Formats: sequence, structure tokens, C-alpha cells
Amino acid sequence: MAGTRGRFITFEGGEGAGKSTQIRLLAEHLRGLGRSVAVTREPGGSPGAEEIRNLLVTGGTGRWRPVTEALLHYASRHEHLQVTVLPALAAGTWVLCDRFADSTRAYQGNGLGVPFAVLDALHAQAVGDFRPDLTLILDIDPEAGLSRTSDRPGAEDRYERMGADFHRRLRDGFLDIARREPERCVVIDAARPIDAVQADVRGAVMSRLGVGAA
Ligand code: TMP
Repeated sequence: MAGTRGRFITFEGGEGAGKSTQIRLLAEHLRGLGRSVAVTREPGGSPGAEEIRNLLVTGGTGRWRPVTEALLHYASRHEHLQVTVLPALAAGTWVLCDRFADSTRAYQGNGLGVPFAVLDALHAQAVGDFRPDLTLILDIDPEAGLSRTSDRPGAEDRYERMGADFHRRLRDGFLDIARREPERCVVIDAARPIDAVQADVRGAVMSRLGVGAA
């Protein structure tokens, strides 16, 4: 609708939770209802942010000091927000984003031990008060998720190689976020078949944002 800001929906979760499939299906659904929809991702989502992504998702697991890594994610995020997300929302487009700031809290905070106070300070500088309208956390046991990722492009597997304990900590991190912010977050059991997960995704969009009923 002209003059109406779009909605910002983020998808979060560990490796192999099926976010990209679910995003694609929700985008098709919302477009079918006549909405303008953009699909994007983090790290990345704008030309500069995609360059930063390459520094983050390839190479040795210990390639960056944890705080450096958080700074790179926030550099990518700032660029992506300014160049891609905010202009699209202002134009009335709904933006579906594969990962956002909750991933930094879970991966760099719970996973790598960067203090949450440091992440909060970076967030305030790079993002400010902007928040997703809705966050869908696709939850899956890390071992089951990682076993689904073996058919991915090999070069982008830096985080997948970080070890079982790391992946367990970040799952706890996402569930903590959902407990602390129930008005923004919905946890969805992603171990089920694609259609069942998509039904819950659409249901959450309908109940939280009032559109897109199946
Ligand atoms: P993807 O595999 O979902 O495209 O995401 C790329 C990787 O980046 C994924 O393993 C999670 C990681 N990541 C972080 O560690 N911190 C972040 O803030 C984001 C957005 C992603």
C-alpha cells in the first residue's frame, strides 16, 4: 500500500534449520497476496556487505578475534540496513531477512564469548532503536541441523566447523532471546517437514502482523 511502511521479518536459528526454504515459501505466499516483498540476508544483502560476508564465512575458524568478528558483522549490518533494508521498508516493501542482530548475540555472544555489553554498544551505534517487527526462530537440535548442511557450497562453512559445544551454546542463546522478548519472537520447531514448518511461519505472520493467513 502506497505510503505505508513495510514490515521487517527476520529468520533466525542455527545451521541447517531450513531458513532459506521457509523464507522463499513465505515470500511467494505474501507476493500472492499482492505484497511487495524483498528477500535479503546477513551477513551481506548489499554490495559492500557481501564483501564483508566473504571475510566472515570462509577461512579458518580462528581467523578473527571474537570482538573483531562482532565488529565485522555490525559493519555489514549497518551497510545492509542503510543501503537495502530501510529504503525498501520506506517504499512499502516487506523485507524478509535471513539472520539479523540475534545471530550476533547467539554466535558471537553465546558462541564466542563476546560480552553482551559490547554487543549492545555496537548495536546502539550501528543500528540504533530499529528492531524487527517479527522474528521467527527456527529451532532444531544442532546435530540434526548440521547433518542437513553437508550439501551446501563448501567454501562458506566457517561457522559449521566451530564444534558441537559452540552450536549447543548458540541454540541456548536463541532460546534465551525468545524468552526475553516474547512480543517480538516466535520459536518454531524446525525438525518437522517443510510444509508443517511453513504453516507455523504463516500462522505467526498472521497472528503477529495480521496478514498472510493461509
Ligand atoms: P548463513 O549460513 O545463514 O547464510 O549465515 C552465515 C553464517 O554467519 C552463519 O553460520 C551464522 C553466521 N553469523 C554470525 O556468526 N553472526 C551474525 O551476526 C550473522 C548475521 C551470521
